[in-house]
Amino acid sequence: MASQEELKKIRDDIDWANLGFSYMPVKTHIRASYRNGAWNKGELLPDPTITMSIAATCLHYGQAAFEGLKAFRCKDGAVRVFRPDENANRLNLSASRLLGPAFSVEFFNDLVRRVVLDNIEYVPPYGSGGSLYIRPLYIGVGPQIGVAPSSDYDLLIMVMPVGPYYKGGMKPVRALVIEDYDRAAPLGTGTIKLGGNYGASLKPAKIAKEKGFPIPLFMDPKTHQYVDEFGTSNFFGITKKGVYATPDSPSILGSVTNKSLQQIAEDLGMKVERRHIHRNELGDFAEVGACGTAVVITPVSEIVTVEKTYFYGETCGPTLKKLYNHMTGIQYGELPDTHHWLFEI
Ligand SMILES: Cc1ncc(COP(=O)(O)O)c(C=O)c1O
Repeated sequence: MASQEELKKIRDDIDWANLGFSYMPVKTHIRASYRNGAWNKGELLPDPTITMSIAATCLHYGQAAFEGLKAFRCKDGAVRVFRPDENANRLNLSASRLLGPAFSVEFFNDLVRRVVLDNIEYVPPYGSGGSLYIRPLYIGVGPQIGVAPSSDYDLLIMVMPVGPYYKGGMKPVRALVIEDYDRAAPLGTGTIKLGGNYGASLKPAKIAKEKGFPIPLFMDPKTHQYVDEFGTSNFFGITKKGVYATPDSPSILGSVTNKSLQQIAEDLGMKVERRHIHRNELGDFAEVGACGTAVVITPVSEIVTVEKTYFYGETCGPTLKKLYNHMTGIQYGELPDTHHWLFEI
């Protein structure tokens, strides 16, 4: 654990304009525990290490789920979190699939509020383009050697400042369709945010990267005929007719960013379609984007499949740019929050 002086030096040395997306020790994280059938109200802890039984179920049987959301220093100086209710609900969905106990949205939001408040000096200043990344983690910690759910759980939330992904504009990236691996099973856990899903995606993501493709695109695991999602983000495209289209699939994660972008697209007068997208339809798009909390939107320049390569351009398209500006405008308090997405700290 870093000493007070080391922490202060790390904090004082932060270059707000050049933050990346990497781990950094901060003042505290918050940890709530479920013991004897009830959640305690959580505690702010300076030590970023955990002690647990070597037989904890999160280590052996994958009883581990997480979330990702962000707090922003807005134009008026206030700090606001983007749609924490959505992450609370999604984490509850993960918990219920793991047979872990539920918690209320109010309980989750209270933990978020307390940990952000205690680490408020780590929220990047308005104008730097950065934000405070909030990473909740839900784990079964009780010892268990037969395959069964734990009776004890921890819900902890860590935070760290992160930078804008795009410093010099949104540069489109190449995507490779993964033909030999799936990230989720047809009736598996693709719709929830289990740690194990990401373990399964490491190898195909590495293969794609080594071939020169920063992001892998997965097809539906049952038929490999329909588009599912990218490794860590949802797929959406703007058709040549100007329609926002995104896959409807039982094996993809319900992205908060995608849901928000669909609403923004509708607000901007666009037609939105959630439907199966056949791989042969990849040629119908004028623009393609990957969307998620970390980046909001990553424009995709081309998608390579075994049969064909589809090109969408080397510069970010106008609709993706408009959606990105609108979304970040709401997040930084530059545009009205008409849907009440921001949770004030
Ligand atoms: C597999 C996957 N899909 C989609 C997303 C985007 O979800 P969100 O917009 O809620 O961050 C993520 C990131 O959390 C992800 O890991």
